[in-house]
Amino acid sequence: MAVVKVPISHEISGHKAVRQALRDTGTYSSDLQGDADVREYRQLPLEVDPPRHHLFRTALAPYFVKPAIEKFIPEFEDLARKHITRFFAEGGDVVTNLALPLVMGNLGVIYNRPQDVQEWIEWGPDVWTAAGPIRSGDVLHGYLDRIYEEALEGKTADMWREIATLEIDGKVVSAEEFRGITGVLLAGGRDTVVKLLTGIVWHLGNSQRDFELLKNDSTLFDGAIDELLRFLSPLPAMARTTVPESTSKELPTDRYVQISFISANFDETVFENPFEIDILRSRNPHLSFGFGPHTCIGNHITEIEAKVFLKALLEVAGPWIISNKSEIRFYEGALSNVPAHFAQLIVDSSR
Ligand code: HEM
Repeated sequence: MAVVKVPISHEISGHKAVRQALRDTGTYSSDLQGDADVREYRQLPLEVDPPRHHLFRTALAPYFVKPAIEKFIPEFEDLARKHITRFFAEGGDVVTNLALPLVMGNLGVIYNRPQDVQEWIEWGPDVWTAAGPIRSGDVLHGYLDRIYEEALEGKTADMWREIATLEIDGKVVSAEEFRGITGVLLAGGRDTVVKLLTGIVWHLGNSQRDFELLKNDSTLFDGAIDELLRFLSPLPAMARTTVPESTSKELPTDRYVQISFISANFDETVFENPFEIDILRSRNPHLSFGFGPHTCIGNHITEIEAKVFLKALLEVAGPWIISNKSEIRFYEGALSNVPAHFAQLIVDSSR
């Protein structure tokens, strides 16, 4: 899921203010049309406020709770070993040759759609630029229309069939709601998790100390993943509107507010030396998954996938260093050692 594209009038930053704003859905509403250049429907449950939000969230939650995702661990492990072994034998770019195919493979397992994995990989890390550099919804929407028809025929037993038959408030989801739910389920766990897995390879290529610490002690995995989630802040900010868009005809142009998760993650009043990666931090209340009613529904998928990946990486590969041919865009100012985007990450494991 990428930052929703809307013109922002002001930003809320800092750990406490961000948490307060995320809880205050009356003042800072999610009832907004994001990505209006490429879609006309709401991503659900992302772009709807309570109490309606709660209905979608409750209907989807059973598929994303920890025990539901843990049952896929053996398949995640097989995929991680397969992709890591191949990558370190053949080389290439971590983003496109390791993280993206692995993350899509895992989604294929969760949604029971292994037949679609290759197609999803071909879209690249961002669904809106699947057809080329100009943003467009054509590729994603063509796919969503196809799977909706298939799901209605009832011949498949997969996540799309489950969603097409969900009842929200006594009514089966509409075609538009189906698009809104499945669209965010394909976009949400894509560039974000790809950035996290790529960032794990980046950090362990830079820090021999953390490589050794983690190789010798798997009880440090959870803390390391939390710290990389904090530091990388894969979804740095999201928008809210001060005027819910579906309830008013008067929509002021300055209604959009940006809630900065990344500012919370680097708040010096909460995190000591926030600009350093410290995998041994004793307390890590990062807001990378947001906070309040819209807290990421894919948090368990992410944490479990990342842990399986880290374990397999340390068993199968390493040590490696980051090649100077890598293409990484960093933030500016105080965050200048924080990668904003990995366009390409090349590793050298020959020594
Ligand atoms: C590193 C990985 C991830 C990060 C950093 C991340 C981040 C976030 C954040 C910050 C939000 C809150 C947005 C807001 O308040 O407006 C969110 C919501 C959401 N995420 Fe994630 N996400 C990740 C992975 C995933 C995965 C794997 C999935 C599913 C496959 C997913 C699906 C969603 C959905 C459906 C929502 C909307 C929840 C709601 O509105 O109730 N995310 N995510």
